[in-house]
Amino acid sequence: MASNIRRIGILTSGGDAPGMNAAIRAAVRTCVLHDVIPIGIHRGYNGLIHSDVVELDARAVNGITSRGGTILYTARSEEFRTEAGVKQAADNCKYLGIDGVIAIGGDGTFRGARELSKYGINTVGIPGTIDNDIACSHYSIGFDTAANTAIEAIDKLADTMQSHQRTSVVEIMGRNAGHLAIYVGISVGATSIVIPERPFDFERDIAEHIREGQYRGKHHHLIIVAEGVGNTNEIANRCRDEMGLDTRVTIIGHIQRGGSPSARDRVMATRMGHRAVEEILAGGTNLIVCYRNSQITTIPIDEALTMTKDLDEYMYRVAQEITI
Ligand code: F6P
Repeated sequence: MASNIRRIGILTSGGDAPGMNAAIRAAVRTCVLHDVIPIGIHRGYNGLIHSDVVELDARAVNGITSRGGTILYTARSEEFRTEAGVKQAADNCKYLGIDGVIAIGGDGTFRGARELSKYGINTVGIPGTIDNDIACSHYSIGFDTAANTAIEAIDKLADTMQSHQRTSVVEIMGRNAGHLAIYVGISVGATSIVIPERPFDFERDIAEHIREGQYRGKHHHLIIVAEGVGNTNEIANRCRDEMGLDTRVTIIGHIQRGGSPSARDRVMATRMGHRAVEEILAGGTNLIVCYRNSQITTIPIDEALTMTKDLDEYMYRVAQEITI
């Protein structure tokens, strides 16, 4: 693959997600294969602004596929939101000989990549967030591992809740989206799943489901609430006060972001990391590598940022209909 690209920078930005390391490893090794020098950029765009970078090679990424988090560290850079910050990062890229940048993260990360590309740096984004809320891609790195982590925790919780015949209200991450909550809720057989994309009505969405369960002999109930709904404790209080249920709240929190990545995340991340380098070497810029219709493909960042992600209506209906 003939190209003028000599050095490619790789960074992770925003919330970390299990599988980011596999994407870094794939990108590094694809660079090496094509005689391009991979440069690790630390702490997201902050590393570009402050020239906090390290030259990598194939051995530098040994054994990282199984590790959660990101070996490059991550941050949400306030400085990079300013024109001066972007210019400083672009100047440093030129000084360091970085011709292309692979940015792994969410929409904020992609907005940053778009700004950098305006200064002539070839940028390609890779979706990496447990929220799976990136509109252009049906999958984002970390979602599967986060779901499995939450499921494992809830299975344990179910043991004690069942023994005490209690009601569990469990908060799941996802920022403003309910994709993770629905996926986890279906997997654990939740009584109700409350997500920010749908208006919430306690009577219809929770009380009726619980009564239906009680009628069929259920003594313990599991309510999954996506964090974006913003009233997990209030829902638990209403279960206790209005329905007389012995209720406990569990916020799984940042545990969902850690842990060894699942096979799905490792493979998806590896494919995306490999593709991102190939795109830059082919002259691509201002692109996002995404997963659509079972294929790894690319989409211009400008177009991707205008898209909105709809809820998977079928999944949501399944979740509602099998709660009885
Ligand atoms: O975007 C990933 C995510 O874990 C969200 O689910 C959550 O709302 C947010 O990041 C938490 O961010 P922080 O790590 O800054 O607390």
